[in-house]
Order: sequence, then C-alpha cells, then structure tokens
Amino acid sequence: MEVIRLSGDYLAGKGVDDGRLNAEQLLAHVLRTERLQLYLHFDRPLGEGELADFKRLLKRRAAREPLQYVLGTAQFRTLELRVDPRVAIPRPETEYMIDVLLRAAGGRGPFDAALDVGTGSGAIALALAAEGIARSVVATDVSAAALELARRNAGAAGVDGVEFRAGDLLGPVKGGTFDLVLSNPPYLAEADWLATEPEIREWEPRVAMVAKESGLGVIRRLIGGLDGLLRAGGWIGFEVGSEQAATVAAMIEACPGFERVQVHDDLAGRRRYVFARQLAGVGNGNGDGEAARSGRRRRASRNRSR
Ligand SMILES: C[S@@+](CC[C@H](N)C(=O)[O-])C[C@H]1O[C@@H](n2cnc3c(N)ncnc32)[C@H](O)[C@@H]1O
Repeated sequence: MEVIRLSGDYLAGKGVDDGRLNAEQLLAHVLRTERLQLYLHFDRPLGEGELADFKRLLKRRAAREPLQYVLGTAQFRTLELRVDPRVAIPRPETEYMIDVLLRAAGGRGPFDAALDVGTGSGAIALALAAEGIARSVVATDVSAAALELARRNAGAAGVDGVEFRAGDLLGPVKGGTFDLVLSNPPYLAEADWLATEPEIREWEPRVAMVAKESGLGVIRRLIGGLDGLLRAGGWIGFEVGSEQAATVAAMIEACPGFERVQVHDDLAGRRRYVFARQLAGVGNGNGDGEAARSGRRRRASRNRSR
C-alpha cells in the first residue's frame, strides 16, 4: 500500500489523471495479479526485482506514455489486443458503437461481408468476426505497421475470417461489395489535436488522429467512395467527433441510395455515431439505379417539407 500511495501521488504530480488507479494497474501487472489482490495483501513487501520492474513501468507512465502502451494490451469487447505506438488505442466509445449499430439494424442476423476501414489494432474487424456479427471481414489501413500488429492480434485471438489489406481508404477493396461498412477514421482538426493530452499528442500515431479540413477530410473522401460498395439493405456506421455528426449525416444524405440516415449518442450523451442503410436495389457499382433516383426524390420532397 505504501508503494501504491507514493507512486500514485508521483503520477498525479506528473499530471496523470487517476494516478493511484494507474499505479495499482501497473503494480498488478508486474505482480501478475488482479487489483483486488493488492488490497488483500496490502502489507506484502516487494522483492527487489519486482520493485525494479515496477519502477521501470512507472517511469514510462510518468513520461505520459498511455497506460495501455505501458501494459502492452487493451481490452476491446471480448478481446485482449496487443497495442503499441504503431496503433491507436481502441476506445470504449468504439466498443459501444457496435452495440448501437446492431440495435439500429434491428437485430438482423450475421452480416455476410463486413469491412472495417482504418482498422488500427484490428479492434472492430476482430470483434465482428470473434462475436459472429459478420461471417467474413476485410480490414484495411493505410499504415503497414498497424496492419502488422492487427494480423498478430488476429493470430493471438485465434480469430479466422479477417483479411487485412494495406492501402488508402477503399482502394484495397475496389470492386468488392459489403453489407456492413464500419469506420472509426481520424477526425481531429490539427488545432484540436495540438490541444490533446500528451498521451494522445505525443504517443498515438498522428495518422490515426488528425485529418485535414477541420478533421473532416478523411471521412469526406470515404463517403465519396461509397457508391456501389454497399449491398442492398447493407449498413454503414461511422464514429466521428461530436461537433461533426450533423455535417457527416448531411454528406451521406447527399449521396444517392441511402435511407435511415441517423445520428446516435455515445455513452456520455455526445452525438458521435452516424449510421445509414443502403436502399434495396442499389449498389454493385450502378449507383444510379431506380432506387437511387427514388432516394433522391424522397430527400427532395423531405427538404421541401422542412
Ligand atoms: C482512430 S484510428 C481507429 C483504429 C481502430 N479502428 C479503432 O477503432 O481502434 C484510425 C485508423 O485509420 C487509419 N487511417 C488513417 N488514414 C487512413 C487512410 N487514408 N486510409 C486507410 N486508413 C487510414 C489509421 O492508420 C488508424 O489506424
């Protein structure tokens, strides 16, 4: 307890939120035990080696390296994923997006073919496959280094059915069609990124966080490439900044062939998720079929009645 108290105060002094909790997690990691066990053995002295290992991790955290990088893992839904500065740390908001999308899609059965654009550690793609939400999954990322780790995570989790492809946005899946497309793209404006905590700004990959056009550049290009990608009745789901959701929804509204464009809240009540469904009869590259035209007609009449 003495070690936890002193190191918790030390981390707090370095500006770490929840310094004590972080100290407990680091110590539990070094002792290969659960946090609760620390309290049950509050008077257990640390061996020299244990103390040295703990100090090494404590120093890294004090330098504001994210806790998950120091521990080397992050939990994502049912999976424990390896993470390091090659990939963004998977967030609870992204875990929750999957639940919200499944509710919006009305509890439909497994998707045949899903796509995760900007997979990073593989979080979304691997969760879709591991939980049987999709039968097959393609995961893309522009970062070859991220894909290396994502592939390793797939192997470690024993998840089959995920194919990883390197390249820019939808480039690696040209000609393919999917019935679920999810993405948590980079969406921070440069100025907002500069104002983030050191854990993000100095440690997580910039390419995972920042996009041009006030953060909208990547998502705009992604939406621009959707024509023909979705199978009839398929769903898209994007995680975006809370100030961006309405703009992103409007971008999708302006595309032919989508219906039920909707914005949902994350667990903190922020408008973070934008979903839409591909109209039946559109897709597979035509992008301008009758359903697309009727979608445009419906939008036009809705706009008139506003
Ligand atoms: C916010 S991270 C999301 C990672 C993971 N999907 C998650 O939710 O934890 C964004 C990811 O998009 C990737 N990315 C950025 N620009 C991209 C592009 N133009 N094409 C493909 N992937 C891109 C980054 O390398 C990064 O892995």
